[in-house]
Amino acid sequence: MKVITIAQQKGGAGKTTVAAHVAVALSQKGRRVAVIDIDPQGSLSCWHGIRQERFGEGYTGLTFAAVTGWRVAGEVARLKRNHDYVIIDSPPHIETEARAAIRVADLILIPVQPSPTDLWASKATIDLAKAENIPVRVLLNRVPAHSKLAAAVAQQLPQLADTMLGNRVLFASALMEGRSATELDPASPAALEVKSLVKEILAMLEPPEEEEATEEKGKAAKSPKEHATA
Ligand SMILES: Nc1ncnc2c1ncn2[C@@H]1O[C@H](COP(=O)(O)OP(=O)(O)O)[C@@H](O)[C@H]1O
Ligand SMILES: [Mg+2]
Repeated sequence: MKVITIAQQKGGAGKTTVAAHVAVALSQKGRRVAVIDIDPQGSLSCWHGIRQERFGEGYTGLTFAAVTGWRVAGEVARLKRNHDYVIIDSPPHIETEARAAIRVADLILIPVQPSPTDLWASKATIDLAKAENIPVRVLLNRVPAHSKLAAAVAQQLPQLADTMLGNRVLFASALMEGRSATELDPASPAALEVKSLVKEILAMLEPPEEEEATEEKGKAAKSPKEHATA
């Protein structure tokens, strides 16, 4: 099981939006996904609440938990048994609680809007992840078309994801309905961006060597039977 923590000390950078979209897209790819909201503001909890009202209890395609940050490691350990991914949405400051969410992660996703203040705010999270030796991807979010500032910010950011998310109303309106862009309009630019991001995440966390190795194992397991029938 892999843990992806969405972190960024600046509020409004897109943590909750990214957490919800990545969680749903991974679940649409057949992974068993849990989301944990450790932000006292509870935006992800509100989203999941609406989702539950619409789809019915237990049918949202996701396991949901809201805990305080200091309980996050225990919650992750509990969810480990029967999930492929745990996505953690964190509060907008790196205090002890958010640090705990960073420590349990296999990947930290840092949404950054193309602005100097977002850029500066992301440095602390990047440093913390580095100190803990955890891979980081910085995700440019809410990027206006032809943004020169985005290009300038990108130049200053190490570990930038190949995918960027545009400034798209569907990201917000989907969340209002307890849904995601990939569910509401799978062919929309917003949905395509999320799918591309998830492809990148899967390439990092489920590298193809592993798949090949299991394929090989499968072949090896099959061959005695093949010999027997030959
Ligand atoms: N790519 C995007 N395009 C348009 N609106 C966005 C995008 N990402 C986030 N938003 C909007 O920006 C606001 C802040 O996003 P949110 O995910 O709540 O940030 P955070 O969780 O970091 O505080 C919300 O109103 C959200 O709908
Ligand atoms: Mg949030």
